[in-house]
Amino acid sequence: MNDSLQQLGLPPEALPRHVAIVMDGNGRWAQAQGKSRTVGHARGAEAVLPIVAECARLGVQAVSLYALSTENLLRRPDDEVGALMGLYEQYLVSERQQLLDNNLRFRHIGRREGMPQAVLAELDRNTETTRDNTGMQLALALNYGSRQEITDAVRNIANQVKTSNLSPDAVDEQLIENHLYTAGMPEPDLLIRTAGEQRISNFLLWQISYAEIWVTDTLWPDFDVAVLHRALLDFARRRRNFGAAPTAPGGVVT
Ligand code: IPE
Ligand code: IPE
Ligand code: MG
Repeated sequence: MNDSLQQLGLPPEALPRHVAIVMDGNGRWAQAQGKSRTVGHARGAEAVLPIVAECARLGVQAVSLYALSTENLLRRPDDEVGALMGLYEQYLVSERQQLLDNNLRFRHIGRREGMPQAVLAELDRNTETTRDNTGMQLALALNYGSRQEITDAVRNIANQVKTSNLSPDAVDEQLIENHLYTAGMPEPDLLIRTAGEQRISNFLLWQISYAEIWVTDTLWPDFDVAVLHRALLDFARRRRNFGAAPTAPGGVVT
């Protein structure tokens, strides 16, 4: 058994396969410090790597990070969006070596349209550079919206029905999943949201059907490994039924 898990008192079967995180609260963090929202976003970016590295160390198979929603892109002021794009570009370059050192497989989830070419180029470069890694999968959600993802999947499937002989009767849950941006990732067992809001904000709506939701008041720039451990320990105590009659407490049902 993984020593780190043992130290935490977590049996391996109680570890989520996929942890999805809504990284919220950068603005409130900045406001509380009397700083600009951009400073909050920069601090938020710095909080990411230790969490990702710890998940990989513990043996989590996949992490997805909600960094920018489609609605953020459309509805936030141009200067905030511009500053965020600059940070993503910088961060994607500066963390590239860490992706390799941690044996992570990187992917972007979200729509490419509307994203600056410079950010897309770095996303592609990270995806390409980490393609043959064998460790944890890391999905960065940028210009991501779950309704848009499902719409794109439906559109692709409809096209296949029209042009490649796909029978409508062949459309089942597995086929739909294969057309989502997250194809090939296990579905999230644990959804963490920071900064206290009790909502999903258009993140992974299909995929989180049976995810356990864990909300903390901690603002994303203050989220550290200790808070992550609390979430994981709490998750391990949850009893998941998946619609069945209740069984023994804890852990992932496989
Ligand atoms: C999350 O922090 C990051 C993005 C949505 C880009 P916010 O910017 O939403 O922070 P709050 O909610 O205003 O505190
Ligand atoms: C969700 O946070 C998106 C990200 C954290 C990237 P928001 O701050 O956009 O969510 P709402 O608008 O408060 O629901
Ligand atoms: Mg917010």
